[in-house]
Amino acid sequence: MHNPQLNKNGELQHLLTIEGLPKPILNHILDTASSFVGVSDREVKKVPLMRGKSVFNLFFENSTRTRTTFEIAAKRLSADVINLNISASSASKGESLLDTIDNLAAMQADMFVVRHSQSGAPHLIAAHLSRINQHHVHVVNAGDGRHAHPTQGLLDMYTIRHYKKDFSQLTVAIVGDILHSRVARSDIHALTTLGVPEIRAIGPLTLLPGSLEQMGVRIFTDINEGLKGVDVIIMLRLQNERMNGGLLPSAQEYFKSYGLTPERLALAKPDAIVMHPGPMNRGVEIDSAVADGTQAVILPQVTFGIAVRMAVMGILAGN
Ligand code: CP
Repeated sequence: MHNPQLNKNGELQHLLTIEGLPKPILNHILDTASSFVGVSDREVKKVPLMRGKSVFNLFFENSTRTRTTFEIAAKRLSADVINLNISASSASKGESLLDTIDNLAAMQADMFVVRHSQSGAPHLIAAHLSRINQHHVHVVNAGDGRHAHPTQGLLDMYTIRHYKKDFSQLTVAIVGDILHSRVARSDIHALTTLGVPEIRAIGPLTLLPGSLEQMGVRIFTDINEGLKGVDVIIMLRLQNERMNGGLLPSAQEYFKSYGLTPERLALAKPDAIVMHPGPMNRGVEIDSAVADGTQAVILPQVTFGIAVRMAVMGILAGN
């Protein structure tokens, strides 16, 4: 079946989802990100890969980490970056998403970085650009609804590879609101493609989608069982903005049953790492003693996100 994010040569044309992306492409992005770490941490100021290109950041949903690191990454690739202020744009006057895209494409956009509350919005934009013969314009999904957050998935893989080196021996636990999590879905696809033998999902049944078992994920409703012997723990926020009705008694009850405390962390391997995509809710899914502890790699994740986003944009621009 044709993969809408690959061009006719099998190269990345858009980055819409990790699902279905071949392992060599994932590894190429991670290896390219490694080569950008010197640029992303400011040892080298800029590279000219995207000089003369215009990147439009279209964030229809709030963001701290993703929007800012895309902007830093694009600037370090020497691109011109335009951050559309959605609340002050004509979208707030009823202009349709695709009319907005037509107008920005008419301003010679080369790349759209899109976050949207509707799953599938970046796919819709990519298909539209093809229909209007704007084949040179690339779309990067920066998070769509509960569907996918591919660059978060990639920066999570970069972080795991940095600390653990080899995916083929790992047990990875994803804890919390997996039902509403685009990060969890992207992580599961990436971990599977990269050869992680055991992926565990831990949470209350109300927050675990039925599709997990088909994806080869082991389900645990008891966090104390699920964390035993794991190498990597990925904590997730309760995504109240995507919940319809009361799926949980209260945040306090949730912390009692599923919060990551130092005692629970001690059930994992002694060198286990703790990850979180952010934003973090301390005292709800994670205890501050863990979030600020020596096993947490939550802030390095953010830093690696710059190199990974440089890699994605640089590869797209080169294709
Ligand atoms: N991880 C993540 O997507 O964070 P932001 O919502 O701050 O971009």
